[in-house]
Amino acid sequence: MARRKKIYEGKAKTLFEGPEPGTIVQYFKDDATAFNAEKRDVIEGKGVLNNMLSEYFMNGLTQIGVPNHFIRRLNMREQLVRACEIVPLEVIVRNFAAGSMAKRLGIEEGTPLPRPIVEYCYKDDALGDPLVSEEHIAAFGWASQQDMEDILSLALRVNDFLSGVMFGVGIKLVDFKIEIGRVYEGDYQRLIVADEISPDSCRLWDMETGQKLDKDVFRRDLGSLTDAYSEVARRLGVMPKGATPMKPTLIN
Ligand SMILES: Nc1ncnc2c1ncn2[C@@H]1O[C@H](COP(=O)(O)OP(=O)(O)OP(=O)(O)O)[C@@H](O)[C@H]1O
Ligand SMILES: [Mg+2]
Repeated sequence: MARRKKIYEGKAKTLFEGPEPGTIVQYFKDDATAFNAEKRDVIEGKGVLNNMLSEYFMNGLTQIGVPNHFIRRLNMREQLVRACEIVPLEVIVRNFAAGSMAKRLGIEEGTPLPRPIVEYCYKDDALGDPLVSEEHIAAFGWASQQDMEDILSLALRVNDFLSGVMFGVGIKLVDFKIEIGRVYEGDYQRLIVADEISPDSCRLWDMETGQKLDKDVFRRDLGSLTDAYSEVARRLGVMPKGATPMKPTLIN
């Protein structure tokens, strides 16, 4: 069998050419990075968890009619997705103040926001993905007015879905980031949810204890990242039997 072609190696995933035209294989790595890759580590098992969790969320979105790139999971670390042209924006939805927004506006982390707030960052690692306004997006032609309406609607639908799913397992969806892809169907183009939805791209707090179950555990050195992600997977019933990373226990 011919060796498949690597298309792109990112910080958390590697993309390979898929078996059919218009498809891509996403390989989820164990690499964790934060603060624009200034902090980095390899967290054993993270890729497997994110692959399974992203599959779970994308499938849920498909069930409620939110278009996304997921086709099928191939194995523990890989999934087949629809190839798209990524809109160069990180679309962030916030329900509670946290992270950069809490800092920027001097709001205490965890403060509920009056309504979900959508922010856009221009995807450019060299610039540290700067926050931009719709004025910048329109003026520089990163997305059209129609695209922006579609993106907003996708982002809010993902927020409704994800908040509900998380609420059901005692987790507060503080905020999350998605990427949007453009696909062409004949003469038409359509925007779909792409990239990944996982604890790498969300802030998830336990509703009772406030315990962080997302990448902040890594960013802020709060303990084991795989324990946190495994807990999310366990609550959602995502980890298959026998695949849960087990720690050895002493039996007397
Ligand atoms: N369906 C898709 N089609 C094409 N590209 C995709 C698709 N889904 C995600 N991508 C892109 O694949 C890459 C995934 O790799 P990874 O998440 O590791 O990147 P990254 O290091 O975060 O870099 P980037 O700044 O490009 O997001 C991203 O560039 C993302 O935009
Ligand atoms: Mg990424």
